[in-house]
Amino acid sequence: MSRTLDHLFDRNVAWADAKTREDPDFFRRMAEQQAPHYLWVGCSDSRVTANDVLGLDPGEVFVHRNIANIVHTSDLNLLSVLEYAVEHLEVQHIIVCGHYGCGGVSRAITERRGAMLDHWLQPLTMFYRKHRAVFDAIEDPVRRLNRLCEINVEMQVRRLAATPIIENAWGRGQSLNLHGWIYAVDDGILRDLGPHLTSVAERDALSSIDQCVLDPVEPQSAKRRQAIAAFSALALEEEPQPGHDPAGCVCCNGQGGPKP
Ligand code: CO
Repeated sequence: MSRTLDHLFDRNVAWADAKTREDPDFFRRMAEQQAPHYLWVGCSDSRVTANDVLGLDPGEVFVHRNIANIVHTSDLNLLSVLEYAVEHLEVQHIIVCGHYGCGGVSRAITERRGAMLDHWLQPLTMFYRKHRAVFDAIEDPVRRLNRLCEINVEMQVRRLAATPIIENAWGRGQSLNLHGWIYAVDDGILRDLGPHLTSVAERDALSSIDQCVLDPVEPQSAKRRQAIAAFSALALEEEPQPGHDPAGCVCCNGQGGPKP
């Protein structure tokens, strides 16, 4: 086995060359500063890389990843990243993104215990045990795991919203949106799970997380949204609505669809 990783250095040179060919100023811009609008809190899973799944270049998203995208409010690593992103970079959006089939979430519901990882996953394990009857009622083990992956996102957005860093930002009027998303490794599509939070009041108005276990939300992907819009446009073509001209319509931006 090779002791060095020359092939990775070679790939790096090829990447930098290609990047410069397609955009000669790219690295000059990168050297000046980073001004990302987004902070991504995701899983360490090698298949869920923020820039790739968002289609963003380097410099466009600030990233923190750990096993199962857990927000521990005593985690100095996460809190340092969060503070820097909120107070210095002044990101406008923080995305907690889980993924279906997460190995970390899967570990949280096994009986195996004793590794450092199990300490890390403790909040999720305790939540699963508390609601075990609800999860066990889901017969398909894949669906059961994926349901917990979804709830984990909900839980971590709430934990993020409870940190003094976020509370203080909202308190001083900073525009800051928290999002809960989930990614499917088998189709490459992101889905919006919520909650979407922009203030302490919105956070405090949420129903309890114990209630969320009983009321699954339908994750929304852009594909689904686009399909609904396309269907509405089609229905409009077939059955024109009196008084609604999509070309000049301010409510649907010329996209068609039923007038609200
Ligand atoms: Co994972």
